[in-house]
Amino acid sequence: MLNEHHERVALPDERAVAALARAAADALPAGSLLVLSGPLGAGKTTFVRHLARALGSAAEVTSPTYALVHEYPTPAGTLIHVDAYRLERAAALRALGLDELRERARLTVVEWGESLLDEEPEAFHLSLDRAGDPDVALYGATWRRPPRR
Ligand SMILES: Nc1ncnc2c1ncn2[C@@H]1O[C@H](COP(=O)(O)OP(=O)(O)O)[C@@H](O)[C@H]1O
Ligand SMILES: [Mg+2]
Repeated sequence: MLNEHHERVALPDERAVAALARAAADALPAGSLLVLSGPLGAGKTTFVRHLARALGSAAEVTSPTYALVHEYPTPAGTLIHVDAYRLERAAALRALGLDELRERARLTVVEWGESLLDEEPEAFHLSLDRAGDPDVALYGATWRRPPRR
């Protein structure tokens, strides 16, 4: 899983999310930036919860909607979790000190971080999606590596 530059994964249940998170933890080098996109309820925060577990953290991961940035220590290093929903542009993310945070992080994950993709050619991108109605939702994700990785 996640060996291709562009890969679509079906996520029928949270076990599948956990497997994807483990593959992502292996595929993402130290210090990397992962942008998460997809509409509300597509599974972005759920993915980060499983990513924290894959990195060895037992922390309870919640949406950083109000704090904007959460930090989780893991045996592999710090996991930084940003919610950019209420931030207008990449400049606003810079103002949060994202670059400084990244320098000492194992991994930085930004929900609603699409605006970063243009100016961060090294960023990985996981696009979460959900189709169907709430009772029979079909979850999935598309993984994109940066061009040179
Ligand atoms: N792959 C999945 N399979 C089943 N339920 C999921 C899956 N991904 C997310 N969910 C559920 O969908 C809801 C919304 O997920 P969440 O991660 O909060 O979305 P987002 O952060 O994109 O708004 C949660 O109740 C979560 O448990
Ligand atoms: Mg969320």
